Amino acid sequence: MIPVAEPCIGKKEREYVLDCIESGWVSSSGKYILKFEKGFSEYCDTKYGISCSNGTTALHLALLALGIGKGDEVIVPTLTFIATANAVTYTGARPVFVDSDSITWNIDPRKIEEKITTKTKAIIPVHLYGNPCNMDEIMDIAGKYGLYVIEDAAEAHGAKYKGRMVGSIGNMGCFSFYGNKIITTGEGGMITTNEEESADKIAMLRDHAMSKDRKYWHDFIGYNYRMTNLQAALGLAQLENIDNIIEIKRKNARIYSFLLRDVKGITFPREESRDKNVYWMYSVLIEDDYGITRDALMKKLSTEGIDSRPFFYPIHIMPPYRDVGDFPVAEVLSKKGINLPSSAKLNRTEIEKICKVIQKNESFTG
Ligand SMILES: Cc1ncc(COP(=O)(O)O)c(C=O)c1O
Repeated sequence: MIPVAEPCIGKKEREYVLDCIESGWVSSSGKYILKFEKGFSEYCDTKYGISCSNGTTALHLALLALGIGKGDEVIVPTLTFIATANAVTYTGARPVFVDSDSITWNIDPRKIEEKITTKTKAIIPVHLYGNPCNMDEIMDIAGKYGLYVIEDAAEAHGAKYKGRMVGSIGNMGCFSFYGNKIITTGEGGMITTNEEESADKIAMLRDHAMSKDRKYWHDFIGYNYRMTNLQAALGLAQLENIDNIIEIKRKNARIYSFLLRDVKGITFPREESRDKNVYWMYSVLIEDDYGITRDALMKKLSTEGIDSRPFFYPIHIMPPYRDVGDFPVAEVLSKKGINLPSSAKLNRTEIEKICKVIQKNESFTG
């Protein structure tokens, strides 16, 4: 099977992880944690990087550090992985869903203001599948209403909006290092920020809210959301290779778009000239005039030994969050969208094979 995602793990990863094992520093203290935090925050152009156990806990910690909780509302796109909304719910606040933009597939900034109430405290834009959100419009709305912005950059390490790294534009950025992400620590997460007070609060909350000055003294209830030195060792080695991984993913995206350019009924992912899309998942929309449905294409790909994924379900249609609001764009994108194999280990021959299967199903009615 050609997988949708696969980590690129090399010699450096082995060397650093082995160093942890041989030195005995396998838990949540050790040199790799600080090195990885420093390296990743520098990469994102932020002053602070605080590692944690996964991307969901990164979002949870960011929300907690901003004091978001019961009675508050947080604006999130409906078309995202459910973790974005769950993290809001963990704090006692309520996620308020916004429809997607049909071109970028990200939260539609034009539909945010109508969802703002006196309870709204923050907006979480998600850079879906590696494509940056229109951050100027989001930051303007946040400024106008005095809201925090937490960028969910779980899928977008290294992406740029107008030359600025995602995760450095809002109050905080939250990243995931799950095995299928652009770089991985197995499981892991990071919060990036330029705000010292928030960084300190996050570091405290992820470690049972232990006092900085008094060992085993706790003024609040915190969490064990720490990353291990073993995970950070893997992460540091991955970080040393991130530019290469992103370049390959961007090159593969160009190959896909070129080979599929004449196929009728396909809508391609967008990259604005001002931005850098990192194509975490190279994704297309299968339109009505393609010939067969998205689901039929996925079956066909599977029989040819090619894995693929449907887009996320919009969160508002699922039982925990059912919302009868109007989200027409997200609902259509969710039905038409497919993630094609996107690993940086993918080679040209494999992409050609995938594109041939996609080309064969094109309708010839025109
Ligand atoms: C948009 C988005 N947010 C948050 C997360 C949560 O990250 P993790 O799986 O590391 O908890 C993911 C992970 O897939 C994601 O895609």
